[in-house]
Amino acid sequence: MSSQRTMAVVGAGVIGLSWARLAHRHGWRVAITDPRPDLGELVAAEFGSDDRVSWTADLTEAVRSADLVQENGPERLAVKQQLFAEILRAAPADAVLATSSSSITASLIAADLDNAGRILVGHPFNPPELMPLVEVLPGKKTDESTVTRAVALYSELDRVPVVIRKAMPGFVANRLQMALSAEARYLVQSGVVSVEDLDTILQNSLGLRWATIGLFEGNVLGGGPGGARHLFAGVGAEVELGKPSADPEAREQLIESIENAYGSGEQNYRRLVDKRDRRTNAVLEALAKVDDRPAVHASPNV
Ligand SMILES: NC(=O)c1ccc[n+]([C@@H]2O[C@H](COP(=O)([O-])OP(=O)(O)OC[C@H]3O[C@@H](n4cnc5c(N)ncnc54)[C@H](O)[C@@H]3O)[C@@H](O)[C@H]2O)c1
Repeated sequence: MSSQRTMAVVGAGVIGLSWARLAHRHGWRVAITDPRPDLGELVAAEFGSDDRVSWTADLTEAVRSADLVQENGPERLAVKQQLFAEILRAAPADAVLATSSSSITASLIAADLDNAGRILVGHPFNPPELMPLVEVLPGKKTDESTVTRAVALYSELDRVPVVIRKAMPGFVANRLQMALSAEARYLVQSGVVSVEDLDTILQNSLGLRWATIGLFEGNVLGGGPGGARHLFAGVGAEVELGKPSADPEAREQLIESIENAYGSGEQNYRRLVDKRDRRTNAVLEALAKVDDRPAVHASPNV
C-alpha cells in the first residue's frame, strides 16, 4: 500500500460497523457517517478516541477523502439512489463507490445518475471483518477500471473478492444458502430430523468439507479416480427435493424449535457471536497454517 487508505463507511449498522473494524485493523483511516443520534457514542464505544477514526452526520464530509466508500444504509432502492447521488458529487474522482446491498444492483442505483462508472456492488458475507468473501458486481454503467480497483482494495483488506458478471436476485452465495435452507426447513418440518441434529449433520459433513475444498472439487473426489465424469454418470440416486411449508403455524413451530435449541435475546446473541468468532477464527488460522501463509484475524466480539 503506497499511502494510507481511507474507507468512508456510510451507515453504521451491523454491516457498516464491521467494515469499519476491518479497515481500522488494516491501518486505514475510517470516516463513519449515519444520521442516528447516538453515532458519537457508538463510535467511541467501538474505537475509543483514535485519530484514525472520525464520525459525522454529514455524508459529504465523510466521503470527501475516501479511497473506498462502502455504503451500508437501509436496503431500500430510493434511499440508496439518493445516497449515491450525493456520494457521486462529494467523493474524490478516483474513489470506488460500493454498496453492500444484498439485493439491489448497481444498475438500479445508477439508473438516473450520470458519470456513474465508479458505482458497483461490494456484497460481503456477514460479518465482513470475519468472512473473507466479497461479491463484486458491476452494473451496466460501471467502468472496468472500477472493478479492477475494487478488487485491489478488497484484497488489501485481506478479503477474497469474486467478480460476478450477471446479477441475479440473491447473487451467488445467498442463492446457495437459500437452496440449502429450504431443504433443511423441509426436513425438520417433515419430522425427518431435529433442528440440532440437522446442524450436527451439516457441521460434520458439508460444512467441514466446504471450508476446506470446493463443491465441484469435492465432485472430483466423490467420483474416485474416475473423477467428476464417473460421479455424474450415476453414483448416488436422484432425489426430488422438498419445499418448506408456507403455513404460518408450521413456520412458527419451526422458529420455536430453533429458539429452543439456541435461545434468543440480546445476551444470547452476544454469546453466539462470540462462539462464531472464536470458531471461525480457529478455522481461518488452521487453514492459513496448512497453506503456509500468514493468518488473517478478525477482532474478537464482533
Ligand atoms: N445483515 C446482513 O446479514 C447483511 C449481509 C450482507 C449485506 N447486507 C447489506 O448491508 C446493508 C446494511 O445492512 P445492515 O444489516 O447493516 O442494516 P442495519 O439496519 O443494521 O443498519 C443500517 C444503518 O443505516 C443507517 N441509515 C439510515 N438512513 C441512512 C442514511 N440516509 N445515510 C446513512 N445511514 C443511514 C441506520 O441508522 C442504520 O445504522 C443493506 O444494504 C444490506 O442488504 C446485510
